[in-house]
Parts: sequence; structure tokens; C-alpha cells
Amino acid sequence: MSFSKRQRSGSYKGRSLPHYSSQSAVQEKFHGRISPWFISVSLAIPGLRTRRLRLWLLNPRRMHQCTVSRFGRKRGFAVLVFAFAALVFTTFALAKRFATEEKTWPAFTGDPPTLVFRREDLHRIWSWEVASGHYPSRRSLPEQLGLRSVLNNPALPPRRTALPTRFRAPSGPNTVTTRGVGPKRAYLDIQSQPPHVAYPPRPVPGSIADLDIVMEHCDFSEKKYVRDCLEVLRMGGGLDNGKRLRRNHKKMNDWKYIYLELNETTPPDTSAMDQSGPALITSIAREDPDSGLIKKRGVEWEVPPIALPETQTYRPYPSLPEPCDSENPRIFHMFWTGPFTDKPYLALLSFLFTQNTGLHLPEYQETAACRPKFWLWINPGPAAAVPNPSATRDMFAQLKSSPWAAPFLHPRFKDVIQFKLWNTTEQLDGVPELAKEWRTRESLFNSGGHVISVPPKKEKVESADSAELSNGTEKAKADEDDILNRTGSKSSTSYDRLSVILSDMARFILCHRFGGIYLDADTLLLRDWEELWGWKGAFAYRWSRLEKYNTAVLHLNKGSALGTFLFRTALKNDLDFHPMTVSRYLKEAHLEGLLLRLPDALFDSAWLSTEYYQRDRPPQPFFTDFGDFFDTPLANSAAPHALGFDGFFKGAFSYHFHNYWWKPFDPARNWPDLGPRFIAGEEAARANIRAAAKAAAVAEGKVEVASDEDEDEDEDQRDLDWSTVLKRTFESYIRGERPTMYGEWLEW
Ligand SMILES: *[C@@H]1O[C@H](CO)[C@@H](O)[C@H](O)[C@H]1NC(C)=O
Ligand SMILES: *[C@@H]1O[C@H](CO)[C@@H](O)[C@H](O)[C@H]1NC(C)=O
Ligand SMILES: *[C@@H]1O[C@H](CO)[C@@H](O)[C@H](O)[C@H]1NC(C)=O
Ligand SMILES: *[C@@H]1O[C@H](CO)[C@@H](O)[C@H](O)[C@H]1NC(C)=O
Repeated sequence: MSFSKRQRSGSYKGRSLPHYSSQSAVQEKFHGRISPWFISVSLAIPGLRTRRLRLWLLNPRRMHQCTVSRFGRKRGFAVLVFAFAALVFTTFALAKRFATEEKTWPAFTGDPPTLVFRREDLHRIWSWEVASGHYPSRRSLPEQLGLRSVLNNPALPPRRTALPTRFRAPSGPNTVTTRGVGPKRAYLDIQSQPPHVAYPPRPVPGSIADLDIVMEHCDFSEKKYVRDCLEVLRMGGGLDNGKRLRRNHKKMNDWKYIYLELNETTPPDTSAMDQSGPALITSIAREDPDSGLIKKRGVEWEVPPIALPETQTYRPYPSLPEPCDSENPRIFHMFWTGPFTDKPYLALLSFLFTQNTGLHLPEYQETAACRPKFWLWINPGPAAAVPNPSATRDMFAQLKSSPWAAPFLHPRFKDVIQFKLWNTTEQLDGVPELAKEWRTRESLFNSGGHVISVPPKKEKVESADSAELSNGTEKAKADEDDILNRTGSKSSTSYDRLSVILSDMARFILCHRFGGIYLDADTLLLRDWEELWGWKGAFAYRWSRLEKYNTAVLHLNKGSALGTFLFRTALKNDLDFHPMTVSRYLKEAHLEGLLLRLPDALFDSAWLSTEYYQRDRPPQPFFTDFGDFFDTPLANSAAPHALGFDGFFKGAFSYHFHNYWWKPFDPARNWPDLGPRFIAGEEAARANIRAAAKAAAVAEGKVEVASDEDEDEDEDQRDLDWSTVLKRTFESYIRGERPTMYGEWLEW
């Protein structure tokens, strides 16, 4: 729960406010003059992860002022206390009223500990990750860990004598950083060269984003604005082609955040080679080796040592025999349940429009750069059902018959877009950390401590396929709206919650098993991710103002120690992969440094402004609600068409539209508008729309008058919303009317 004030111009709420109690909000108010009568309270709607319930409440400070002036100091206070109690009661009653459908987040009880690993294992995890090159960062390691030796870091260049301030670690008595023993870096000045300034240049193959620098310019905790961050991301990445204006030279130099690793190995500093590995003597270790760590109640520590594979060899790009590194496959994963709609369609189009898929070349040169792939995982039935044996065949038959999916089955896309059947049993068995034990869990559907139990079968069959998963036939009695039978979401109240919970787990499984980056299905890519692929650490992003993770974008290294930690810990915590819970796992184990929490600006630039932050200097476009993407307010709706794709959070890597599954991107042309090549799908979709309209008209008792084939074309709205402009932009690329954002024309 957080309180944000309404009328405070020019204020920047950069503090992190995870447990901002009403009390502190009241205290803070006492600094002001006359306060506004109402304050907005935004409540997390648990379950609906990324949307919030906003309530306007009487401002206690204003009431205090008023009661004191009206009733005198003493009686005024009593009146206020009574009023405040009433307010708290109302708040809770409302929260309950609106939250019963969803899981309730236990924010008021204090979260019980989740930790199951001893300190020596936490040391092993850190050492493994640093030695494998998964920590290309100069940030210091957590003091609470009690690491006393310095780890050699192959992903970091050796320290130069005179370091810019930003690289200087904050020095405390227990501060430990890693020692760079990796290749030197060359920071790039990326600009398009005249006369080729119409489109930005593709990123340099093998280039890497220095996320330490990105954090420095973008960290919300350091009061950095999303707007400024996007400017740095644009300029440093050369996305401001042809539009660069002169600014302070030194500043521009500071904004270079993209580097290449040079192909020269630094002679290892032998004085540093003595103390890698987990044999770490700490002052803490002499007393209680686990002091300061709070174990989860009611379970035993995991028996050390934690089972980890060999550390991975860090292989800088220039030393690779070919551009793609098998240890770090470039796969975007997405998870989808239910009928294929315009949402995954747009995600796939945004992938083709932005990423280096090489579709502008008749023959792709595998040696030029590493080509990313998109794996769309389809969960065939309701989340709790076991797929039937013909599931794969059925899946392709369905995709083929879906106007939104069929275009991506075109042979031209076969090397970059693949549809995969999600089989929960097979996936869980594929994670070594879970394979032996997941069947013993109470339920697979746990979110933030709230377990949704799938009704047990009458005859408990503990076979591989049925354990924990209910069989389709037994649900035949269940009614259509049963949450166990939901696939896809038709509105904000009847959305498919089990699939959301399953997808919370699926993202960790996919990244751990296959490597790559997971994207939520309500994500659109906005620029090439080359430089993020180059950065070898794991990452997710920040939960708006909270110092917690949002896993709508998640990168884990394949088979990493961090992954092992997460699965073992989750197993002991009822397989809860809700991002808030994962945040607790990592925080309590002092492993947050290993999963970099990137700023919202990179992937979800509108989040802070929709939550009343940074409204004094919002990014472009300015959204006060995620719905603005679909229904752009009239006053601002000249922007989408006038600015187009370039005016949409330029510099960010992706945009996250936060659910809205039920909103069409383009109400007037709600079909895949891809030209003659895909005309069959378009006609099928338009026939469906007409049939639905007719059915609706008949149901309302109206008589169908006109049946003009093209009547729906005439209903195009005067102003185009942002969602519509993006859809039509991507589609015109497929139709061959414009090139990608980097100026490459699709070659069939
Ligand atoms: C980098 O060095 C490795 C080994 O030292 C060599 O095999 C490789 O060809 C070099 N790459 C480039 C781009 O110079
Ligand atoms: C799902 O996985 C299980 C276990 O690997 C396997 O027995 C089953 O046949 C799979 N189902 C489908 C439809 O592939
Ligand atoms: C589901 O249950 C029916 C009858 O109870 C059985 O015939 C069928 O094989 C089961 N299917 C699966 C996938 O377990
Ligand atoms: C599940 O829902 C679909 C439509 O959404 C309905 O046709 C089907 O009968 C339902 N199945 C069960 C078992 O309730």
C-alpha cells in the first residue's frame, strides 16, 4: 500500500517506499502548509499483478487541521482518531471487497523467512557465478555475505589506476568487490554517418551494454527520471539518427554505455589467484557460520554442498568460433494459453520489426551476427489439464486455422519463429532440481503464498501424468467460468489466473533449461536487444517504485547456480514463483546482486507515471493509465500518428502494456492486415467479425440492414490510438511498404 500525494508540483518521489505505512504518510504531511482534502491510495490488486486499485481517501493531515481548528486541540484529536479508525476500517473493507476474487497479498503480517541455504552455499553460488563470467559489474558484493577473499572476475577488465568516479566502489570496512581479470573494453561512439541518417545503424555485433552505466543514469532509487534515462539510452545507442542536437560534450561522453571486448587476454595477476572457491574464512565463520541468516521455519537447511555443475568458461565475443555462443543462446521465450489473439501476434510482429533476424537478406550469413530466435510456448489447454497425446498435432492444426497465428507458419519465418508445445509434466521433469520432488508438492498453483488447489481426483492416481494435474474429463461437470477451465481472458474479472500463475513458474523453467530471455505476452519489443544479449549477467526489472523484481522480462543463464538456488528454494516454499516471493528469496539470501534489477525505463517506461510518479517530467508519451495505450486521451491523440513508432518511448528495449488482454489493438481493423500474401486469414477474421456483429444484432432484436463487405472500413476512427499506430506500423513492414526500424526491407 502506498500513499501518493496529489497536489505536489515539482516533487519527485524517488525514495523507495515499500512499507510506507499510513503513519509515515501522516507525519510527512506535517511539513506542508494547508494540505489537500484527498489523497490517493493505490492498492496492489494481488493476482492482477501489474494493475493497481486507486482509491481517493480523505487526507488525515487535512482532517487534523480541520478538526483542531473546529473542535480545539484536545477534542480535535479525539475526533481525528475516530475518523482515522473509520478510514482504516473502510480501506480494509474495500480492499476485501475488491480483493476476494484475487489472492490476498500478506503485506500486513510480515513475511515469514524463506531461506534454506547456509552461508557456505551462498558463497559457493556467488563464486560460481562470478567465475563463470555472469557478473560483468563493478558493484560490490553484499557485506552480509561475509566474503573476505576477492573473487577473480573474467567478465571485468583489470582496474585502471585512475578510475572515473562512477567506477569507484564505495569503500567500507567490509566492502568486497571482484577483481577484474577479463578483456579490456572499448566504449563505442555510435552514430549514423551522413548521408545514411534515415534509420539508426544496427548495433555492432558482439557489443555489450554496460549496465553499471545504465544504472547510474536510470536508477529510480537514485532519483533518476525515466525521461532522462531514455535520452541516454537513445543517444548512447545511436537511435537518435539524423536528429542529434549538440549538447554538452562531456555529458555525451558519459552517455557512452556500449562497449566491445578486445581480443587480448590480460596476463592473470598471480597474486590474485590464491583464494577463489568457497574456502572462505570470515570473522563470522569463527562463531556461528550462519549468523545473520534466518532459516525458513519448519524445514531443514539444504545439506551442503549445493550441487553445482562445473563453472562455465567465460568466452568473450571475439574469441568465439562463430557469432552464436551455444552457452548463451539468443532465444526469446513467450508463454501463451488459449486462443491465439492479436496480443501474441503483435509481440511476434514487434520481434520481426526490431530484431536482427536477417530477413532482408535472401540468404542469411550465419557468420555476420548471432541471429535471435523466438520460441512461442503454447499451453494447449486450461492450465491444470494434461495435454492429450495428439496435442502437438492439434496445436499446429489450431495455429494454422487461426488468422492471427497462421502468418507466422510461413516458411520465411521458420528459422526465427518457432511454436512449441508446453507440457508441464515434461518441463518439470526437465529441471534436475525439481525432477525428483515436484510431485510431492501440494499444488503447482501457488502465488504469493496463496495456494489454489486443483480438486483432487476421486481415485488418487499417482502416475507421472496425473500427479497434481487434473484430467480433462473430471472437469466436465465444472461450469464454463470455472477458473480451472479458463483459457485466455475476456475481461478484467474473468481472466485466466491459473495460467498467469503457471507462467510465473514457466519463465524460470524455460530460462534455466534453455537459456535466453523470457518475455511476458503483453510485451512489445522496441529496439534490437544485441547489447543486452552481450551482457552476461542475469536480469529482471524493477517493480515500479518498490525495490522488488518484476519478472515480465527475465534473463537467466542456462543451468546456472542462481537457477539452482531459485528452484531449490521455491521447492521448499511450495513452488511459489510470484515475483514478490522471488524477491524475498533473493533478498534473504543476499543474492539480489546476481539478478540485476534493471530500471523500469528499459522495459516498462510508463509504469511509474501510471502510478503517479515523475508526473512533473514524464517520458514521451505521457500515460497516466495503461489504458491510454489503447484509448489514447483525445488531448494527446495527435501524437501517435504524427510521431509514429519513433515517438513511442524511444530508447527503451520494450513496452509492457500490463494485461489488457481483452482490448483490441485496432478496433477498426481488428484483423491481420498483411496484404495479399495472407489474404485468406484476413478474410476469415473479417467473416468472424461480421458473424459476431450479426449475432449481436439478432440478439438485440435489430434487423440487419446493410451487409456491405467493406462497411467496417468506414468506421476507422479520426484519431489513431498508440496501440493502433504500432500495429499498423508493424503490418506495413510485412506488407513491404516500409523497412524495419533499422531500414531493412523484408525479402520474401
Ligand atoms: C581472438 O583470439 C583468439 C585466440 O587468441 C583467436 O582464435 C581469434 O581468431 C581472435 N579473434 C579475432 C577476431 O581476432
Ligand atoms: C508430456 O510429458 C510426459 C512426460 O515426459 C509424456 O509422458 C507425455 O507423453 C507428454 N505429453 C505430450 C502430449 O507430449
Ligand atoms: C482421463 O480420465 C479418463 C477416464 O477417467 C481416462 O480414460 C483418460 O485416459 C485420462 N486421461 C489422461 C490424460 O490421464
Ligand atoms: C470449458 O469452457 C469451454 C468454453 O470456454 C466449454 O465449451 C467447455 O464445456 C468447458 N469445459 C468444462 C469441462 O467445463
